[in-house]
Amino acid sequence: MKEYFLKQNIQAEPLVNNWYAWLYLVSPATASMVIANSQNAIMKSYIAMPEIHEDAVKRPEMLGGPFMDFAIRQVDAIKNLYENINTNCQKSIALSEAIKRLTLLLRSSATGDSLESIYESIPEELKGLVELIYDLDNRANFRFIEGLLYKSEYNLHEYQSVLLTEITQDHRPFAMSTPRLPESDQVHIKLPFSDQWYDTFFNMKTIPQSEEDINKIIGQLPNKDFIDRGAFFSLFTKQVPDTIESVALQENDIRIRYFGHACVLFESTNCSILIDPVISYKYETNIDRYTYANLPERIDYLVITHAHLDHVLIEHLIQLRHKVKKVVVPKNGTCFLQDPSLKLFFKELGFKEVIEIDDMESIPIPGGSITGLPFLGEHGDLNIQTKKAHLIKLYDKAILCAADSNNISSAMYHRVYKIVGNIDVIFIGMECDGAPMSWVYGSLYVNKLPRNMDQSRRLNGSNFQKAFDIVETFQCKQAYVYAMGQESWLNYVMCVKYSLESQPIVESNKLVSACHSKDIIAERLLNKKEIYL
Ligand SMILES: [Fe+2]
Ligand SMILES: [Fe+2]
Repeated sequence: MKEYFLKQNIQAEPLVNNWYAWLYLVSPATASMVIANSQNAIMKSYIAMPEIHEDAVKRPEMLGGPFMDFAIRQVDAIKNLYENINTNCQKSIALSEAIKRLTLLLRSSATGDSLESIYESIPEELKGLVELIYDLDNRANFRFIEGLLYKSEYNLHEYQSVLLTEITQDHRPFAMSTPRLPESDQVHIKLPFSDQWYDTFFNMKTIPQSEEDINKIIGQLPNKDFIDRGAFFSLFTKQVPDTIESVALQENDIRIRYFGHACVLFESTNCSILIDPVISYKYETNIDRYTYANLPERIDYLVITHAHLDHVLIEHLIQLRHKVKKVVVPKNGTCFLQDPSLKLFFKELGFKEVIEIDDMESIPIPGGSITGLPFLGEHGDLNIQTKKAHLIKLYDKAILCAADSNNISSAMYHRVYKIVGNIDVIFIGMECDGAPMSWVYGSLYVNKLPRNMDQSRRLNGSNFQKAFDIVETFQCKQAYVYAMGQESWLNYVMCVKYSLESQPIVESNKLVSACHSKDIIAERLLNKKEIYL
């Protein structure tokens, strides 16, 4: 009898070598740099001085720092992990060394003359995987042939896994600095993220299966002999999930649901669009929120604004894949180390139809269109092109999801306004006190970025003046501040704890007041919101 559902509170952490997986751990070149320069450094430091880590994680000002956060000391386990990674990923670590050597080689040998003679000196590990180039000021660089890299010996998919844990509350250790050490009550699925096994498994959140079916899916796992059947069966329940709310939409209705952070769902009678998915699990809590149960059966367009961890979470992508028809991502521009392609990444994750969208390019959707608008700043002034604000037109309404766009050039928005006209509703992030750029990009640097540069080139979104300028330029009727990372179920990736004096709060309060004074509906979103247009 088909009576078993996957419980609604099973957390599914994607891992590469037991570290929390994200774009930079999946794309092979960045993965090599993150392992060699960040993870190895954190593991060595913990093995040498665990007490420093234990002390640091108790201090709020160290939140998000390179410190491991374990309930009990784990030196032996981390030594083991360090040895395993450095044995299994020798080729990746060699690749990171080759990237450094090539960078230095170009600095010393590329004088403005033809680069062709340098090809034979490219480190062996990188031969055939890069093209050497100059910019128009004769500065040499190299671009990756990333599609080939994914098909090379540097792809780490065999070390991908998903750790399943039943959870009952929001707190989780910071994902970027604490590797996961599976415990006996957790189920560790050792399959690459692209494996369709996950579709069958996560589909069971809404479609029940029989005991025999569950035995069959255990049998499909390569590590089936090491799976504790009792623990695996405990992931399921006979309790039928709460009925999914299905208030029928009327023709021409547009329903908008804010799921937290930058995740917004747009629904009409014939189209659903989900932006930057990050979705809470369901458990007893006094913070009201939408969860997986509030998602439609089918997501027609899963849309991504940019490649930062808090906007592209493999954890949620892998659980949604079976529902998703098409993925829309910003077009990749440079193929430089810091700017991996989101299209190749989504293909690597097993999504079938992935559409890249360029600046001012539109794709038709039922009842409207999605247009990629330019997204400036918020990436430490690095040459990163894989970022877009998305303008969604549904029926006669225009809605802009600007994510973390920093309005560093209002002239750009004036040009865009002349083309797209008024926007009814804007969602804009105002993390105007963003992290120093090394927080995301530090491990990609061959030489450490000087502190003054690091502090100056922060990952900043718009402040009040910049955000209000956009609202006024597009004559918005409704303005919502979102993507502020304040939801309690996001602390494991966001690490923000704002007070009333924090700049993002002060500046966004000003925006809300200024909008109200002009009769514009405005609010800083937190946890949950439903809007009908
Ligand atoms: Fe961002
Ligand atoms: Fe963000």
